[in-house]
Parts: sequence; C-alpha cells; structure tokens
Amino acid sequence: MVTWLAVATVVRVIVWTVVSSTDASCPADCDCLVYHSLFVNANVYTVNCSSRGLLGSPEAVPLNTQSLLMSGNRFVDLLNKIPFLPRLLELDLSNNLIKQLGRGSIFQNVTELRFLDLSFNKFRTLFNKVFRGIHKLETLFITNGHLKFIDEHVFDDMNKLKRLNLKGNAIHSMPAEWFYDMINLEVLELDHNEIFYLNSGTFAAVNNLRYLSLSHNRIRGINENAFAGLRNLRSLLLDHNHIGEVPSVALQPMKQLKIIHLDTNPIGQLSTGDFVQVPVEEISLSNTSTLHLIDHGAFWNLHNLEKVYLYNNPLLEYIDPHAFINVPKLKVLKLHRNNLSALSFEIVSRRPAVQLTLHSNPLLCDCNIRWIRKTLARGNDSSILFLDSDKLRCSQPQNLRPFSIETLDLTNIPPQCEPFVIGPLNETVDAKIGESHTFDCRAFGIPSPKMYWILPSGAVINASRDNFQAQKKHPGTLTLYHLKPKNSGVYQCIAENNVGVALKSITLQIENIDIGLFPQRVSSTFVTVVWNGTARNNFPEYDILYKIDNQGGEEYKTVTVSYVYRSYTINNLEPDTSYKFCIAVKDEEEGDYLQLSCTHVQTRDASFIMQGIYTTSNVAVAVVLGIIAGMLLTVCLVSVAARKYRQRHYETPEKSLISNMAHAPPENLNSPLMSRVGS
Ligand SMILES: *[C@@H]1O[C@H](CO)[C@@H](O)[C@H](O)[C@H]1NC(C)=O
Ligand SMILES: *[C@@H]1O[C@H](CO)[C@@H](O)[C@H](O)[C@H]1NC(C)=O
Ligand SMILES: *[C@@H]1O[C@H](CO)[C@@H](O)[C@H](O)[C@H]1NC(C)=O
Ligand SMILES: *[C@@H]1O[C@H](CO)[C@@H](O)[C@H](O)[C@H]1NC(C)=O
Ligand SMILES: *[C@@H]1O[C@H](CO)[C@@H](O)[C@H](O)[C@H]1NC(C)=O
Ligand SMILES: *[C@@H]1O[C@H](CO)[C@@H](O)[C@H](O)[C@H]1NC(C)=O
Ligand SMILES: *[C@@H]1O[C@H](CO)[C@@H](O)[C@H](O)[C@H]1NC(C)=O
Ligand SMILES: *[C@@H]1O[C@H](CO)[C@@H](O)[C@H](O)[C@H]1NC(C)=O
Repeated sequence: MVTWLAVATVVRVIVWTVVSSTDASCPADCDCLVYHSLFVNANVYTVNCSSRGLLGSPEAVPLNTQSLLMSGNRFVDLLNKIPFLPRLLELDLSNNLIKQLGRGSIFQNVTELRFLDLSFNKFRTLFNKVFRGIHKLETLFITNGHLKFIDEHVFDDMNKLKRLNLKGNAIHSMPAEWFYDMINLEVLELDHNEIFYLNSGTFAAVNNLRYLSLSHNRIRGINENAFAGLRNLRSLLLDHNHIGEVPSVALQPMKQLKIIHLDTNPIGQLSTGDFVQVPVEEISLSNTSTLHLIDHGAFWNLHNLEKVYLYNNPLLEYIDPHAFINVPKLKVLKLHRNNLSALSFEIVSRRPAVQLTLHSNPLLCDCNIRWIRKTLARGNDSSILFLDSDKLRCSQPQNLRPFSIETLDLTNIPPQCEPFVIGPLNETVDAKIGESHTFDCRAFGIPSPKMYWILPSGAVINASRDNFQAQKKHPGTLTLYHLKPKNSGVYQCIAENNVGVALKSITLQIENIDIGLFPQRVSSTFVTVVWNGTARNNFPEYDILYKIDNQGGEEYKTVTVSYVYRSYTINNLEPDTSYKFCIAVKDEEEGDYLQLSCTHVQTRDASFIMQGIYTTSNVAVAVVLGIIAGMLLTVCLVSVAARKYRQRHYETPEKSLISNMAHAPPENLNSPLMSRVGS
C-alpha cells in the first residue's frame, strides 16, 4: 500500500530519450517520445501536447500513439475531439476548461484506455454512458474539479478499475450503484468533498478495496452497515469530519483493517469497547477540540494494535488506568499537548517495550509522577522510553513549576498521595426538563481512589471500583434521566483513598423548556388552547390538564395529545367560569404530571354565541372540509414529487435523517372547526 501511494505521487518518470519533435509523424507543436508510464506500467509511445494552448486534439496524431498528454490546454468540451487511437492506453486531459462532458459516449474512439485524467476541469456532472466503451480503464482521476452530480450508472462495466480518485470536488452523496461493477477497485479517494452520511451497503461490492479516504468531508452519520463488504480494507481515513462518536459497530466487518484515522472529529470521549476486536495496528485521534475522557476498556481486545496517536487534544484530562485491556503489542503511545495532569503507570507497565510522548501536559508533580521519574533514571534499561524526556516539566504544584521532572530528587517524591480530582472543583451545569445528563468525575492518586456520589437528597451512590469489568459504567459517572425541577441541587463527587479525600461539587440547575400555552378561542362552553415554542417536539406526547380555578382539592381533568398537535379544543366547560389550563408531561416515577406552562381563562357567559362556524350550516362545513382535504392532498403530492426530484439529484440523505420533515406538523389537526363537527 505504502509503495503504491509513494509511487503514485511521483507522477511520471521519463526513461527514454525524446524520439524527435520534428519526426514526420509527430503532430506540429507536440513532443513525441517513449517514456515509462507508471500508470500503465510500461514504456509507451507518447505524444505530449501539454500546455500548448490547444482548443482540440492536434491533427494527425499517429495511430500507434499509446499515451496522449493534453494537460494544460484550453479544451472547453470533448465533443468529437478524441481522435481514433486504437492503441491508446493513457489520456491526460487535466487542467483544461472543460465545462461539460455531455451525454454522448465521447471516449468510444479509445477503447483500450487504461488511464484517464480529467482533474482540474470545470464540469459539474457525469451523465450515464459518458464512459461507455472504456471498460478496460484501470485508473480514473477526476480531482479538484466542480463535480457535484454523478449518475448512478456512470461507472457500469468498469470492472478493471483499480484506482478511483475523486478528491476535491463537491460530491455530497455516494449511491452504492457507482460501485456495483468495481470488483477490482483497490484505492478509492473521496477526500475533500461534501459527503455527509455513509449509507448502509454503499461499499458492498468493492470487496477488494484496500484504501479508502473520506477525510475532509462533512460526515455526521455512519450507518451500522456502511462498511459491509470491505473485507480487504487496510486503511480507513475519516479524519476532518463531523463524526461525534466512534462507529464501533460499523467497523466490525473490516477484518483486515490496519489503520484508522479519526482525527479532528468532534468525538467527546472514548468509551468501553469503542474499538473492540478490530484488528487495527494504528489508531489516530488527535487534533480534536472535544476529546476529554478515555474510559476503561476503550481499547479492548486489540491484539494487533501497536500505535496510538492521541495528541493535541486540549481538553483531554483523563485516561483510565485500564483504558487498554488486552492490547499486548502496544509500542507507541503519543499523548503530548493534552490536558493530562497524570498518567497511570498501569497503562504502560508489563509491556515488552513502549515509546511514549507526554510533554506539554500540565503534569502534577506528586506521587503520580514517581514512576516517570524512576523510568527516566533507568534510561535505556527501561522498557518504557520517553521520546521527550527533557521536555517533561512540572506545572503543579506552584513551587515545583517549571522544573524538569528529570531533575527532581526521587527521595522527595512520596510513594502515595491523596486523590486529585480533575477539572474545576465547583461547577454549575444547566439542563432542561426531560433531558438526561451525565456527570463524569475522575481522580488520580495512589492508591487508586474509590469514587462515590452524594446526591442533593443526601443519598450515597457507591459502586465499587473493583468489579468495573462487570459494570459498564465507571463509578465516577453518574447519569440522570428524565430531569425534572426537583433534580436541581448540589451533587458531590468524592474520591477517597487511605491518604485523603478530595471532593468536587456540581450544582445542577434545571430549566423549564421553551413551550408556552395560550388560549386561542374562548366561548361559553369550549376553549381552544394553542402551544408554541422550540420544545414542542421534545416529548412524544403531552397532556393538557384543566380544572376550575381556585377549587383547591379538585383533580385536574387530562387529555393526552401527540407531539404533532399544535392546539386542542376542550368542550363541555361551565359558562362564565375561570379555568386553569396546563400543558404537562407524565412523570412516570411519581405517577404525577410535570407542568410546563399554564394559563388561566375565563369562559364567556351563557348568552355569548360564537360567530361564524358555530352557526354555519352542515353544507358549508362539508365544503370547507372538502377544500381542506384538497389542499392536504396537493401538499402531499407536491412533497412526494419534490422528494423524488431530490432523490434523483442525490440530495436525499438516509431516510431516518429526514423523518422529521416527513411529519410536517398538521397545524390545525384539532381545529375548533373539526372538533365541533365531531362532537
Ligand atoms: C510534457 O510536456 C510538458 C510541457 O512541455 C512537460 O512539463 C512534461 O514534463 C512533459 N511530459 C512528458 C511525459 O514528457
Ligand atoms: C472518432 O475519431 C474520428 C476520426 O479520428 C473522428 O472523426 C470522430 O469525431 C471521433 N469520434 C468521437 C466521438 O470523438
Ligand atoms: C495535527 O495538527 C498538527 C498541526 O496542525 C499537524 O502537524 C499534524 O499533522 C496533525 N496530526 C494529525 C494526526 O492530524
Ligand atoms: C540510550 O541509547 C541511545 C542509542 O540507542 C544512546 O544514544 C543514548 O546515549 C543512551 N542513553 C543512555 C542513558 O544510556
Ligand atoms: C485543563 O484542565 C484544567 C483543570 O484540570 C482546566 O482548568 C483547564 O481549563 C483545562 N484546559 C483546557 C484548555 O481546557
Ligand atoms: C465550592 O463551593 C463550596 C460552597 O458552594 C465552597 O464551600 C467551596 O469552598 C468551593 N470550593 C472551591 C474550590 O471554590
Ligand atoms: C463504597 O464502597 C466501598 C466498597 O464497596 C466501601 O469500601 C466504601 O466504604 C463505600 N463508601 C461509602 C461512602 O459508602
Ligand atoms: C407564542 O405565542 C404567543 C401568543 O400568541 C406569543 O406572544 C409568543 O411570542 C409566541 N412565542 C413563540 C416562541 O413563538
């Protein structure tokens, strides 16, 4: 793989001398020579017409031409511009001004073609059949262009293709159809595009792919089956995307995977089993501004893993002592420029040899660095080698700053010390009703501290550290689900060992969600309430509660409404009476309701008669209903048509992503009109 790529970067090497540019058979303005083409791996008879300001192919290109180089000219299209060259293997049309390739089969004159380069041009679309006739193609480059739409069957019959490079375009989705015939594809480069989702089964046919680059795209989601079929993939580059978590399940089918790059993605933490049983040798997750925690078992059962790059993550404060479980071959661990105050010896102990970087971390020079000082003292005798030993400095406590760890006197470093809780010790966190929230509290210390939580109620949540493999959660992690106002308060995380105790307090404030209830229509016997606000879809259903005001003991009456509702009409009310209406959600634990927004309404007196609809005849009602039904039908048809249209242009993401849009809220599903008709 490495050699393949290295070779590919050296574009062309000339081995034979120029034949003669004055040769009778050589077109004027071009050079004719024999050179060794790396792409077709042979010495080829070449006509080099690069950078000649040509608008089309020169006259009389010799029939035996094997390589035609026309890069850097001024072609605007290729319509009837490719001469009949039955032996042509290599065609370079990069760096022209080609605006469109059209819908015809423009390459039918060069059916032996192995290599085609259309990079640095201006066309945006590849229509079906444009490559018809050149199914012997092995390498296709269309890089750094304006490509946006590629028809699904453009690459049909390209079963000899080994390398496809489409980097640097504006491609935003990849239908599986592109790859159906590419059974020999080995290298696929799609970096620097605008791909935002990896669909199920996209690569199911490219079983021989070894190298896949999707770096510098906008990938947010990866279907669990996105990588199915990539059983020979060695390198997977997903860096510089918007991926929020390691796609653990999706990685499973790649049984030959050796390298995975996830750098510069918004991944917040690595959790237990994130990389379980992937046969990788190298994992890179550096240069993020989000990674803050690497939990126990994040690297678990990785028998081939040798190199782990986790540097330049300015929020990374904690790596669990058991982050690496059953990773026998770990050799290189790069942890420089993080926010680590310590690194547990367990991570690197009992390994044959491991190289480590740790400089530019805010190291705490207490008992936690004792093993580092000892390792440095042993120099080359140690199985652990710090690649930056001279740059390891204390940043805390103040009196040791900025001493180099190498210069510290080992006898002054205590073997044990009290826990040190990472992160700010007092913190306030805002969360909203109905959300869940996770507190992560971690501590260094020798002996390894035990952690527990004290809730605002005073209750102690204690999970023993010793059986962490059995439980999925770390004892320093506390998750609260379905938050409600009474969860507000101070949560204390306690870290304790036989030397001392450290404590961290987090004040949790629960805010109401943005939903407001208002009366819309008020009559003597019914009231229509509407609700608005950004939180209208936060819960699958809401309850409307109502009762007569100031009747203390009286129970609320309730109606349950789906989140798609925007209003509701309550009938059979008392005239001239003050009511309280609330929108609420059920609190399953308490068997009660959590009121989100309330409003008070005075019903009209009995003499009040609603104008308009109340007096409308049944015929009019039927007409109005007919009109509404017609409008709904039109909306449906238009949206179906619009969707079809978008699909054709590959703008449709995975269905699940648009499901919210598909449920266009029927604003007046429960309009007063309809509820009256029904009642
Ligand atoms: C073709 O010509 C261009 C411009 O004269 C030159 O830069 C390039 O090296 C030539 N390529 C080969 C293979 O001779
Ligand atoms: C094929 O080559 C012939 C002769 O060189 C030329 O007249 C014709 O336009 C070419 N066809 C295409 C599709 O380029
Ligand atoms: C991280 O960023 C630095 C500086 O921008 C760069 O030199 C390095 O190659 C990046 N590393 C990775 C793995 O992306
Ligand atoms: C360790 O080995 C390297 C070469 O492998 C040598 O340059 C260096 O001086 C040695 N250091 C010590 C402390 O022995
Ligand atoms: C690093 O951690 C310390 C506390 O341990 C925190 O105060 C600081 O803000 C963190 N640095 C960054 C860049 O987040
Ligand atoms: C954190 O807040 C508590 C009271 O809210 C206070 O007693 C304590 O001193 C504070 N700790 C720090 C480190 O500011
Ligand atoms: C928490 O549990 C551990 C072991 O299960 C025990 O040693 C410790 O005393 C407990 N702490 C509290 C505060 O209950
Ligand atoms: C919700 O409706 C009320 C009354 O119609 C209005 O005052 C308020 O601004 C609306 N709020 C939002 C977020 O639209």
